[in-house]
Amino acid sequence: MATRTTTGVTHYHVQKQRRAKFIEEWRKNHRTIVGVDDVVLHKTARGMRSGVYVGTDGDRPTRTMDAQVHEIDPGVVTTTHRHSWDAMVFVVAGWGWTEIDGRRIEWGPGDSLHLPAWAWHRSGNDGTRTTRYLTFSSEPMLDTMGMAIVEDAGEAGIAELAQRPPYTQHLDGDDPYARRIRRLGREQQARRGGRLHTSWDELELRNTPRGTRTTFLLDRAIGYQASGITMAMFEIAPGRGQSMHRHPGEAWLYVVEGSGHSYLGTEPEGGQMHPWKKGDIIVVDHFLWHQHLNTDPDHTAKVVRIHMFDSLLETMRALCDPLVLFEEPPEHIRDAQAGDPSTVDWPELTRPTWP
Ligand SMILES: [Fe+2]
Ligand SMILES: [Fe+2]
Repeated sequence: MATRTTTGVTHYHVQKQRRAKFIEEWRKNHRTIVGVDDVVLHKTARGMRSGVYVGTDGDRPTRTMDAQVHEIDPGVVTTTHRHSWDAMVFVVAGWGWTEIDGRRIEWGPGDSLHLPAWAWHRSGNDGTRTTRYLTFSSEPMLDTMGMAIVEDAGEAGIAELAQRPPYTQHLDGDDPYARRIRRLGREQQARRGGRLHTSWDELELRNTPRGTRTTFLLDRAIGYQASGITMAMFEIAPGRGQSMHRHPGEAWLYVVEGSGHSYLGTEPEGGQMHPWKKGDIIVVDHFLWHQHLNTDPDHTAKVVRIHMFDSLLETMRALCDPLVLFEEPPEHIRDAQAGDPSTVDWPELTRPTWP
């Protein structure tokens, strides 16, 4: 009779162990609030100072996006670079400019910009006070696919540099190759024609059933062509809160103005409150119930919400269906938590200040 020897180390066992180890290790990276004081600014070769809120280079690793802060002193122009990922910018102080593939955009506090993938860019400060802005990039996600590339051009002017990678737009035929060429050609053409700038002066905030008033800053709904990162701002009335909900991480809230606390918990009850203030980032980095509350009895709180929606989260929703990845409490609970925002006497919208 034939006998067979098994080693016990199968594909199944290797995979099971590897998966368990990954998530066990990864849980050490969970965060709640990253305070503005936790972010150390360093002088960089680009001519500006930079610090990491969340991201591997600040020893707070992430999987899809990173969040950094940068400062440019008066009279300084940064070096030029480009990269395979895109980034969103939110200005919190000072007046300056950014040149994106030869187009110069002037900006001030509260303005937002999109830096598309492979677009050369540099920024400058012609003013009299230091500028400060946040950036949120898709570098970690591209890095997970081995596609994160950066090219530093030093002091070179953008006009003398190579343009974005060329692409083929058209090929006749009804075969899969020709169809792919045309499909990706159309896609790339649209991607390269997206919007780049939202001025604070054009923002209009609208009441939502979740207890806040909100506006898009950078989103495909208003003409942006990004990797999936979307940026919106919402304002919470004094003493009020946004209704509780949950969705996958990484979703971050940069506190533009105000102070309060956020509930974070694996269940809608029994979790912890985490205090925040102006300049902090509230980190929702995994699948937790959360609710953001403005504890100031007199002033509204404004936060900028960033997440990787159109690409990553939509894909996760498709792949996990019928699992529900965006959960809200039943309407009567939601409305009781949120309160009616139409009863709020919202203040005039003024540009953010720093510090
Ligand atoms: Fe950049
Ligand atoms: Fe959320």
